[in-house]
Amino acid sequence: MKGRKTKIISTGSYIPEMVITNADLEKMVDTSDEWISTRTGIKRRHIAKKEEAASDLAYHASIKALEKAGISARELDMIIVATITPDMLFPATACILQDKLGARRIPAFDLEAACSGFLYGISVANQFISSGTYETILVVASETLSKIIDWKDRNTCVIFADGAGAAVLRSSSDDTGGIISIYLGADGGGAELVGVPAGGSRMPASIETIKGRQHYMKMKGNELFKRAVKVMTEAVEKVLEMGNLTYKDIDFFIPHQANIRIIQAVTKRINLPMDKVYVNLHECGNMSAASIAVALDQALDEGKIKKKDKILLASFGGGLTWASMVIEW
Ligand code: UT7
Repeated sequence: MKGRKTKIISTGSYIPEMVITNADLEKMVDTSDEWISTRTGIKRRHIAKKEEAASDLAYHASIKALEKAGISARELDMIIVATITPDMLFPATACILQDKLGARRIPAFDLEAACSGFLYGISVANQFISSGTYETILVVASETLSKIIDWKDRNTCVIFADGAGAAVLRSSSDDTGGIISIYLGADGGGAELVGVPAGGSRMPASIETIKGRQHYMKMKGNELFKRAVKVMTEAVEKVLEMGNLTYKDIDFFIPHQANIRIIQAVTKRINLPMDKVYVNLHECGNMSAASIAVALDQALDEGKIKKKDKILLASFGGGLTWASMVIEW
C-alpha cells in the first residue's frame, strides 16, 4: 500500500433491544425454526423501534467508538456512513449524524455499496488518511433493514435485521500495523438479484408502487448464494495475494454474515478452520453493511483479536459489490 499506514484505533456497535425469534416468524409467514436454522444459521435478530432511524443507530455506535478512542467528535476530519437504509433519500444520513455528534463542519457523506459498504467506507477513508489529507475519520455502517422488509415475504424477512457499527481511523504514528491490502469489486450485471425497485427515479412512489409492494426489498436468494461463495472466495484469494500473504498468515476471519452455509463454504475453500472465523448471525441476522462492522467490534470486545494479529475481512452484497481487506492489528 502506498502512503501513510491507516489504523482502526477504535470500534463501537449498537444493536437495538427488540428481538424477533424464528418462533415469532413462524406466526407471520409460512416458515419454521427448523428451516431458518438449518438453511441460514439464524436464530434471532434485532429490530429497531418504529421511531428509530439509521442515524439514531449510527449515533449510538459512533459515541461508543469515540469514547473508546478517547477523542471528541470535534477531532473528526470526515464522516462516512455506509447504508442502504438512510433516514431519507437526502440529505445524507452522515450529515444528520455530524449534527447529532456535534462534529465540526467537516465533509460528511453516505456511501451505498450494500453489504460491502463498511469495507468500501474504510477503503475511502484510507485514501484520505494515507495521502495525508486528513488525520481522523469516522466510518459508520448503519442499517434499519426491518423498514424495507416485506414482513409477508419469507424470502427476505427471515434473514435481515438492524444494527450499526462504527470505526475511528487514524494514521499510524509508528508505521506498524494497519491496513495491509484492500480489494474492491462490483458487477452491475447482477443488479436485479437484490434491491428495492421503487422510490427512486426509475420508479417514483405512486399508488401503484405501494399497492404492488415495490418499496420493499426483493431478492433472488438462491442465485445470490452461488455468486456469494464464488466471488467472496476470489476476493479473499486476491487480497491475500496483494498483501503477499497466504491463508496460513491469517489469525482471524470476519466474513459478511449473510448465511452460515456461505461462511462455511468460503472458509473451507480457503482452508481456514472454523474456530478462526467470527460468526454472529445466529443472534444478529444479516445486517448488510453493519454486519462486519458489528462483528469486528464484538470480536475485539470478546478478546478474540490480539495485537499483531492479521485479520481478514470479506463481504458480498447487492450491486453486486464485494470487498476484502487484511489488517494487522
Ligand atoms: O446479504 C447479501 C445478499 N444476500 C445473500 O447473500 C443471500 C444469499 N442467499 C441465501 O442465503 C439463501 O439463498 C436463502 C436463505 C435466501 C434461501 O435458502 P436456499 O437454500 O437458497 O433456499 P431456496 O430459495 O433454494 O428454496 C428452497 C426451498 C423452496 O421450496 P421447494 O421449492 O424446494 O419446495 C422454497 O420455497 O425452501 C423454500 N423456502 C422456504 N421454506 C421455509 C424458501 N424460503 C423459505 C422460508 N421458510 N423462509
